[in-house]
Amino acid sequence: MAANRTFSIIKPDATRRNLTGAVTKMLEDAGLRVVASKRIQMTRKQAEGFYAVHKERPFFDDLVAFMISGPVVVQVLEGEDAVKRNRDIMGATNPENAAEGTIRKAHAESIEANSVHGSDSDENAATEIAFFFKPEEIVG
Ligand code: CMP
Repeated sequence: MAANRTFSIIKPDATRRNLTGAVTKMLEDAGLRVVASKRIQMTRKQAEGFYAVHKERPFFDDLVAFMISGPVVVQVLEGEDAVKRNRDIMGATNPENAAEGTIRKAHAESIEANSVHGSDSDENAATEIAFFFKPEEIVG
């Protein structure tokens, strides 16, 4: 499959513990290339917009509060089969179910403070990338 792109967030639990480099190294070692990256403090409006698909879920308010509790690093990752490759190296959403060798197994604290987000489809990757990056900010 041709190289394509996905969207990643290094979440506040990871930036708080100074794990930006450690997480990024795992992404790079998995064959993904960081083609855009910025450290930001998400606003409530951004977090609510980004996670709008979950707004009816019982965990929505806590999720938004967590995502604005500290800085995050938003990234565009490029590589062969990027969406699946990233989801494989992230591991299961709940770290209790994450496989050995994955980012969430190594670093996540809980299902909420689970260190990373990754797009779940090519379509959502395009939407999520456009939510945070202008085309000219992505340099492959
Ligand atoms: P993420 O991939 O960023 O997408 C939605 C997030 O909601 C998910 O990762 C989890 O961190 C968070 N979350 C919190 N509680 C739950 C839950 N019970 N089920 C699924 N996701 C949850």
